[in-house]
Order: sequence, then structure tokens, then C-alpha cells
Amino acid sequence: MNDPNGMVYDNGEWHLFYQYNPYASIHGNMHWGHAVSKDLVHWEELPIALYPDALGTIFSGSAVIDKDNTAGFGKGTMIAIFTSAGARQTQSIAYSTDGGRTFTKYEGNPVIVSDVRDFRDPKVIWNPEIGKWNLVLAAGNEVRFYSSPDLKHWTFESSFGPEYGSHGGVWECPDIFTVPVKGTDRTKWVLLVNNGGGPAGGSATQYFVGEFDGKTFRCDSPAETVKWMDWGKDHYATVSFSNAPDGRNVVLAWMNNWDYANRVPTIQFRSSDSIPRDIYLYEKDGEHYLSVNPSPEMDAARGKAQPVDAGTVSADGKLFTDILTACGGVAEIEIEFSAADGAAFGIELFNSRDESVKFCYDLAAATFSCDRTGSGAVDFHEAFPIVSAAPLEKADTYSLRLFVDKCSVEAFDENGRFAMSNLVFPHESYTGIRLVAGKGDVNVISMNVYPINSK
Ligand code: FRU
Repeated sequence: MNDPNGMVYDNGEWHLFYQYNPYASIHGNMHWGHAVSKDLVHWEELPIALYPDALGTIFSGSAVIDKDNTAGFGKGTMIAIFTSAGARQTQSIAYSTDGGRTFTKYEGNPVIVSDVRDFRDPKVIWNPEIGKWNLVLAAGNEVRFYSSPDLKHWTFESSFGPEYGSHGGVWECPDIFTVPVKGTDRTKWVLLVNNGGGPAGGSATQYFVGEFDGKTFRCDSPAETVKWMDWGKDHYATVSFSNAPDGRNVVLAWMNNWDYANRVPTIQFRSSDSIPRDIYLYEKDGEHYLSVNPSPEMDAARGKAQPVDAGTVSADGKLFTDILTACGGVAEIEIEFSAADGAAFGIELFNSRDESVKFCYDLAAATFSCDRTGSGAVDFHEAFPIVSAAPLEKADTYSLRLFVDKCSVEAFDENGRFAMSNLVFPHESYTGIRLVAGKGDVNVISMNVYPINSK
């Protein structure tokens, strides 16, 4: 699998469609696979939702609930909008009147055509300000905005991007939505774009904050500003759920990178998605940034806390050898600490084969990093063994939430100041945690290990 597609909440169910090759564990023959969940943690796999047709294979796209029957397929119909990838890339729609279980393709497909070679990944939103649908798609090195009263007839409105942000590789999988600014009653428009040239090399998600009137997006920041949503190497094709309850902005990323996606050393499957994240905006020095947080459903997934008495950590370090064994190496680790400004704090997960992934708060350099160079299988691709780093904001205390799975580590600053998602392939799950301080002691205020009830 690759990109998450058609994410939509409907009738108590979160739908996750995804780029899926039923015939091989490398990219090709794209279909939309399908899974549903009631809690964003436990997923039930359903039959394939969309198959290739005469217009092409089924590339990425979105889904909406047509509450007012604007398209004429019926009130409350689920409508998927996707790229038909044939000789040309065109946009098509399909509808489902049985809660996403089966889809019928619209006989008038395609609904948007172009001569642009890379022309794909339509994301549709209902825009109450104009009383119409808006669609954003990626067209080479820019995004294009459209509007429609009925999801069938689309009017080109404007394009955005060639001179803005990062342009490593073509732009893909855009999304646009409003996000509340923490501590205010304001919202801003956020435009997500996925492309190469990321902070850890290769695929990554950048975003732009600004205003959108249904026709034109105006970015608040100077054109050269680049904002990354996640600082790891495995966070791509991020888009949000449509129709999420309570106005939430819930996103998922494909946890992989096109640098090596077809080569990662797993058997019988390739790729998985990130844990769900709820996003907000916060303001700093006159700029708005995304705050990326594990969705509250991840709190509900916590098993019984295992408190760890770490106390003061010095350069000698502290070992908690079997602390992850009982949960099979699948856990959330939560650590709050304080330290002097010049100090460094290492948090390392290791196994009995001497494989380890090493996180480090370097308060002098003001970075948080993840070193996976010795994390397990790393030599399947030269772009894999890396250290990823995020800028760190100075604080009185630092709080980390670290989600460890069989082949991934997702790190979040508890206040939403950074997120970092990386794959790791230890030959045996990590069993222990080592804490070590540098250039001064570290005072661990609290530390808990939670098994995750994912089954
Ligand atoms: C992003 C992407 C999309 C495209 C899909 C094809 O990872 O390249 O632009 O629709 O994957 O599988």
C-alpha cells in the first residue's frame, strides 16, 4: 500500500481507503483498498472498493458525504473523487449508497481533464462560505483550485505554488481546510502539500497557512518560508478526514518514503500508516505553525501504566532492561524531564542483539533527533540509515510521547511543537530503554510505559 485515500467519517465509522496493489508488495496496479474503524485504533479490513477501468488505474483522492444530494445520487451518499491514471491523468467520481461497501462509477467520467502530465490527487471539501464544493489537486509544481455545485461540473479558479515553499520533486496529495488557532477564537486556512526534498531527505509533508475565499489561496508567509509538518523520514501523503465529528482536523500519513518504499525489509506486506493525529495552529513570532498531536483515541488505547522511577540521570546512564518485553515491544513511552540549558538527554530503545534507536534532546544545539543508523536492518537502501532532527523550543520542562511499534517509532512533543515519524527494522522487538545524560544531570519528573491495546 501507499497513500491513505478517501478518508471520511460517516455514521459512526472512520473510513480509510488506500493505494493498494493486490498482486504484489511493490507499487503498481493501483486499486483503492478499504478498512473501517469505530475508534481510529482498531481497523476492520473490507473488500477492495475501487478497481481500475478503461480510464486507468485508481490513484489517490478523497471522499465526501453529499448531505444535500448536490450530485443527485441521493442524500447522504458517499462520493469518492480520485485520479484515473491512464494515458493521461484525469479526475473521476464514484458513489456509494451502502456506507462505502460498494461503489458505482459515474458514467460521465472523467469530470476534470488536462494536458498536464502530473495532474492528480483531488481533495474535495464543502465550502460553506461559497455554498459550493472546492477541489484542490496537484499539477506538476503547483496546486490548482476548482469549484463545483454538484461534484460533476468543475470550474478552474486559480493555481498556487511554483514560487512558494519546497520543490524537491513534483507536488502531490494536497489538502485544504480550516484549523483553529490555539488560545484564540480564530481559524486560518491550511494548505498541505506532499513532495520530495523533505527535512530528512525524500518524501515529506509541507504546509502553508493563509486565507482562502473559495477561489484563491493567499499565503501569510514570504514565498521562501518552508514549514514541515513532521521531521522524520517516514511521513508522506498526509491528508485529513472529511466530515470528522466536532469539527476535528484528524490526519493520517503513509509511514514510508519513496526513497526506499519498494525495498523496506518486511514480509507479506509493505507499508502502514501513522497513528492518527489531531492538528491545531499556534502562533509564534508572528507566524502560525501546526501543532501535531496524537489523537485522543490513542489515550483510550493505553493499557495499564507501568510507572518507571528514573529519578536523576547522569552520564553513567540508567538501564531498564526488560521494560518493553511484557508488551511485546509495542508501547507508548511518556517522559517528562527538566535539565540545564546546555544539557543533553538520550533516550535509547534497544534489544538483546545490540540494535538500538537513539533519541536525543540536545538543549545546547536546540534539537530533538532520532538516530536509526544502528536500529536493526538498515543496509537495504543507502538512504535509510540516517539521523533526523527537529528544531527544539526552549522550555522549563520537556515532555515526550513516543509510540513504538514493530517497525516504527513516532515521537511527539506533548505540547505539539514537533512530531517525528520514522521506520525502524530491529530483528527482534526492542526490549529495553536506556536513559543517559550529557553535560549535566537530567531530572526525570515522570516516566510511564503503557502497553497499547491494539488488538
Ligand atoms: C503519492 C502518489 C500520488 C499518486 C499515488 C500513486 O505517493 O505518487 O501522487 O496518486 O502515489 O500510487
